[in-house]
Amino acid sequence: MRYDTIIRHGTVVTASDVFKSDVGIVDGRIVAMATGLTDADEIIDATGLYVMPGGIDSHVHLDQPSGPDILMADDFESGTRSAAIGGNTTVLAFCMQEKGQSLREALKAYHAKAEGRCHIDVSFHLVVTDPSPEVLGQELPALVADGYTSIKVFMTYEGLRLRDDEILSTLDAARRTGALVMVHCENEDAIRYLIGRHEAEGHLEPKYHATVRPIAAEREATHRALSLAEITETPIVIVHVSNRQAMEEIRRARERGQKIAGETCPQYLMLTADDLDADALEGAKYVCSPPPRDRESQEACWQGIEQGVFDLFSSDHCPFRFDDPEGKLNARGRRHFRWIPNGIPGVATRLPILFSEGVMKGRIDLNRFVAITSTNHAKLYGLYPRKGTIAIGADADITLWDPERFTMLTNEMLQHGADYTPYEGLAVRGWPVRTIVRGKTIVKDEKLTGSLGYGAYLKRERSSLTR
Ligand code: URP
Ligand code: ZN
Ligand code: ZN
Repeated sequence: MRYDTIIRHGTVVTASDVFKSDVGIVDGRIVAMATGLTDADEIIDATGLYVMPGGIDSHVHLDQPSGPDILMADDFESGTRSAAIGGNTTVLAFCMQEKGQSLREALKAYHAKAEGRCHIDVSFHLVVTDPSPEVLGQELPALVADGYTSIKVFMTYEGLRLRDDEILSTLDAARRTGALVMVHCENEDAIRYLIGRHEAEGHLEPKYHATVRPIAAEREATHRALSLAEITETPIVIVHVSNRQAMEEIRRARERGQKIAGETCPQYLMLTADDLDADALEGAKYVCSPPPRDRESQEACWQGIEQGVFDLFSSDHCPFRFDDPEGKLNARGRRHFRWIPNGIPGVATRLPILFSEGVMKGRIDLNRFVAITSTNHAKLYGLYPRKGTIAIGADADITLWDPERFTMLTNEMLQHGADYTPYEGLAVRGWPVRTIVRGKTIVKDEKLTGSLGYGAYLKRERSSLTR
């Protein structure tokens, strides 16, 4: 048989196995796995490299309206470019419903933003901010049938948060339709109360972003979300978990028999609230929600990764420029932490950081790395087995990793739209030296080799958790 491409002499890693095999690709799909494959238009030598499923980052914000005079630093072009540089082959971005807007209208706008602008494959989660009877009763069932099988709800942010009765009706609609619900768990009323206290005391610097969003506000909202999910009998994902107490809520809910997935992110392993307490408003660079916590929370999140509390390791890439009047240091943000846009860039650094800090430092094995950065994302968000594994019949979405390469992270190499990375100067061991999407090399040694618009929109099946 003649192949379009053969990846030869590499070590294939999946969520369950590590083995020597060549990989034969025809028409963008894996058609053969064996040693000694020959006869192809293109032969890629993977000697000394790991051949892994491409990263799937299921928590990415791109080209999202973020308040008056604030501009998100990445659109679909720059965001998917940076994702590819960091070894990803698929991202799931958010389609934000505006109040009063139908979900179909919102989707039309996001499809227009993404159309012809993606380097890697993309799909959308629906953010429900206006759960009207029409949205939940008519739109959602039709959209789930059309392949939009996940939604996100917020318990914080004025204008986005849902009240408990709205969360209940959204969860109920999700249970009936089979949509998977992601929940951002922080208690908005508690945060408002603390903001008021800080304002009265004149405490307005970036570091106070962390103190108005304490662990108790996240733990309480996590407990409430899990209780509402139990009452409605609906599986949910608790996203961007930052600390042990929220993790314990997830553990307890699972022990009660609930179907729950948990997600954490690099910022909760690598940053602390001390990073927000830097000179000259530098702390604004690290403002995200939930905020990074302390060393003990970092250790807890590592344990959650090792022990299976977390199924997903995502970036929560939500990039804003730092030194920019439309970014972190906008006129109001300079004066009050409340107006610093929340979110940090991370789509390119997620995989190298976990590979280096997790695999190379012996905290997790290669299989767990693949599971929480790719396979579980595909399963939970209805892309498996087309995506998220290396198997015959799957899309040839493959990242080649050089486990020995040392790299010092710099903002420039990440090729995103932000003017900083929170991880500037971090030394990582192991690097994604080639990113292949549906059989085509789109990044080689940090250089884009693909063509803009190659990335395709992915219609998804229902989640493994809601089936
Ligand atoms: O600060 C963050 N995480 N911003 C992104 C929006 C969200 O809550 O995921
Ligand atoms: Zn969130
Ligand atoms: Zn997010």
